[in-house]
Amino acid sequence: MGAPESVELIDLEGSDRERAVPVVIDSFVGIYRWHAKRTLRQVSHVRAAVVGSELAAVAMLERLDAALGYVYYIAVRRPFRRRGLAARLLDDALDRFRRGGVRVVWAAAEADNTGSIALFRSRGFRTVSKQEPGYLEGGLGARGYRSKMWIVSGEVLLGLRLAPEPSPDPGLPDD
Ligand SMILES: CC(C)(COP(=O)(O)OP(=O)(O)OC[C@H]1O[C@@H](n2cnc3c(N)ncnc32)[C@H](O)[C@@H]1OP(=O)(O)O)[C@@H](O)C(=O)NCCC(=O)NCCS
Repeated sequence: MGAPESVELIDLEGSDRERAVPVVIDSFVGIYRWHAKRTLRQVSHVRAAVVGSELAAVAMLERLDAALGYVYYIAVRRPFRRRGLAARLLDDALDRFRRGGVRVVWAAAEADNTGSIALFRSRGFRTVSKQEPGYLEGGLGARGYRSKMWIVSGEVLLGLRLAPEPSPDPGLPDD
């Protein structure tokens, strides 16, 4: 048996983000490839998994609001798939969102992307309908945020609640 594989998670900033372009090219085609490359350069936080000396996987993360996190893309180079790298990046993202006070996290996936949907479901995400109550009412509805997330036809929205909404401030008691 070989030595266990060492995986390091790192932040990618500035021009270092170009190191993740091969992951994007290996993972997306057409308009998604274009959009994922653009997002890689513009998104607020990029986390990557390095295996040995190779950049094998990437997660692109955004805060839509103080309480709202969004996983734009998670992608893994083909030779590194089904080794738990996406799950590791997602766990790391959820940890950071949780520590940063995020209460709801969303992600979008093409309806036929069974691998991606299974990945998010394995971490407790569920499908969110358009009619669902918004996050402030305790639901996972994303009205007003769907366009920020660039959700297009043929995609499903997945959501996970990390923390309940705070109870309303009872204010000062009346005299
Ligand atoms: C989807 C993707 C990110 C998964 O990456 P990965 O590193 O292979 O996933 P992991 O090994 O961490 O899998 C974690 C869990 O996700 C699910 N999963 C991942 N890939 C799957 C597949 N092809 N089919 C079914 N379930 C899958 C499984 O539940 C898996 O747990 P298990 O291996 O114990 O069964 C990868 O296939 C990919 O880069 N695809 C192209 C880009 C993409 O579609 N990204 C998602 C949209 S943003």
